Amino acid sequence: MTAGEPAGLAILISGRGSNMQAFIDACSRGDLNARVSVVVSNNPGAAGLERAAQAGIATRCIDHRDYASREDFDRALVDCLDEYPVDLVILAGFMRILTPVFIQPFSGRLLNIHPSLLPKYPGLNTHQRALDAGDPEAGVTVHFVTPELDGGPPVLQAKVPVLAEDNAESLAARVILEEHVIYPLAARWYLEGRLKLEQRGATLDGELLPATGIPYREGLD
Ligand code: GRF
Repeated sequence: MTAGEPAGLAILISGRGSNMQAFIDACSRGDLNARVSVVVSNNPGAAGLERAAQAGIATRCIDHRDYASREDFDRALVDCLDEYPVDLVILAGFMRILTPVFIQPFSGRLLNIHPSLLPKYPGLNTHQRALDAGDPEAGVTVHFVTPELDGGPPVLQAKVPVLAEDNAESLAARVILEEHVIYPLAARWYLEGRLKLEQRGATLDGELLPATGIPYREGLD
């Protein structure tokens, strides 16, 4: 990637792909100096594949059920991404646990979004867990991916209030709006060379980020 030239994004999805769409939109608006090189799904039925194809983006399906082990699947993913210009890999609702076979070659240029205020609630059913715990707020975290599940250094975190009448769906609907804002922003920082994964953790402009990432607020740039 050289200055001025659009960076290549690979987006990995398993489902509807609303975060993927946020990236497609951010690229077309010029908010991100990037283009989506390929969208890959492990799930042939992912609605996001259709949305990407309609936007004229290359799509690939690598069905994890065709592979004997997680490592074999991850090798196929690496081989697939090798065919495209990829500066940054975006996990956007990608519902497979990745092994070092994939994480290692993309280390430091691999981001995920997780719908909880990490380190709270790694794993699944995050919104229900926040409700069950009686948390007054919930949210979402963009983080670098390391081999520890949902455990890589957080970059950016957005909070939303939990309302008395909330269920998991209504809370998810409030959180996803924040996802579409903070994920492209974190990617922009990366593409501008400001955000880095270092030995000591995630850094922005050379400053070590707090353990829960930067709290998002409007106007953050
Ligand atoms: C999002 O809530 C994301 O945080 C989680 O999976 C969901 C994906 O939604 N990892 P979408 O496919 O981007 O609409």
